[in-house]
Amino acid sequence: MIYEEVLEKAKKLMPPSCWVCKYCNGLACRGEIPGTGGKGTGQSFVRSYEKLAEIKVSMDTIYKKKEQDCSVTLFGKQFAAPIFAAPISGMASNYTGHFTEKSYAEKLIHGMLNVGCVAFTGDGVSSHFFNDPLSVIEKAGGMGIPTIKPWDQETIFNKIEQAKKAGVFAIAMDVDSAGLPLIFDSDKEVGPKNIRELSEIRSKIQVPFIIKGVMSVKGALKALESGADAIIVSNHGGRVLDHALAPVEVLPNIKEAIGDRMTILIDGAIRTGLDVFKVLALGADGVLIGRPYVVAAYGGNNLYKENNKRVKGCNENDRL
Ligand SMILES: Cc1cc2nc3c(=O)[nH]c(=O)nc-3n(C[C@H](O)[C@H](O)[C@H](O)COP(=O)(O)O)c2cc1C
Repeated sequence: MIYEEVLEKAKKLMPPSCWVCKYCNGLACRGEIPGTGGKGTGQSFVRSYEKLAEIKVSMDTIYKKKEQDCSVTLFGKQFAAPIFAAPISGMASNYTGHFTEKSYAEKLIHGMLNVGCVAFTGDGVSSHFFNDPLSVIEKAGGMGIPTIKPWDQETIFNKIEQAKKAGVFAIAMDVDSAGLPLIFDSDKEVGPKNIRELSEIRSKIQVPFIIKGVMSVKGALKALESGADAIIVSNHGGRVLDHALAPVEVLPNIKEAIGDRMTILIDGAIRTGLDVFKVLALGADGVLIGRPYVVAAYGGNNLYKENNKRVKGCNENDRL
């Protein structure tokens, strides 16, 4: 199957949640949350795409031919490429409900492992947003990275214990996610974390700890001080704050300040191999890609023929 066919199939199933655009740039879905867009005017998502497109590549066309090797060692493991699947939750509220959290995690985690890479998984207000994908990671021998939301410390510690039992090789936290409308409006305690709280969280984790949602040099230095092993330079796909800078704009200064003291990953409108090349050249060690993998899961599976209806168990209550 070629990618155009994947898009065609996905187009039959995903609107009006995702419009399956030729270029996934945040324009058609501006402001669509629930859905796949950026918050408010959608500028943060759009800017992430545009600022990447503005970066141009300098060519040196005379060189010795050699085999290219894209493999990379991160977090003590070798991967076929410096590419991770980003955590995406809310299959019923943000998408058209053909997947549950678990069935999407199954496609994503096994799909990534099949190509020698791994996926991050997400979290949400209801416990199954974290637990269901985690059970898939556990079955895959711990080969996935759960991402915990910044709940109260006790809840976080419990989730860390669950992740440990599942044998995960790294744990992430999207510290920016109190800015998500559905998370903020929930009755759960959620909010920003300071260095002391993050250090406390770090002390409970024996595997690499990755802080997702760092968007400034100041933030990166605080993540370092808290003992994090890695950061993800990310504006959460433009979903937590309107008019934010693009991750690629802040990356070079963060790299300059951090050097090799932490692994630096980045996400936000990374769509092509050339985009990956650009951010690696600007100092990132690897990337995460989010929305296009959901499109691939929709279009790359026989959902249309076999199951052109909402999957069982996915209903209005199955929300973030
Ligand atoms: C529908 C949707 C759900 C998401 N859920 C999560 C989540 O549970 N945890 C998280 O850390 N990030 C979440 N994100 C943010 C992504 O992990 C990623 O940072 C963002 O989408 C940028 O990458 P992209 O432009 O390649 O999609 C979500 C994004 C979308 C669009």
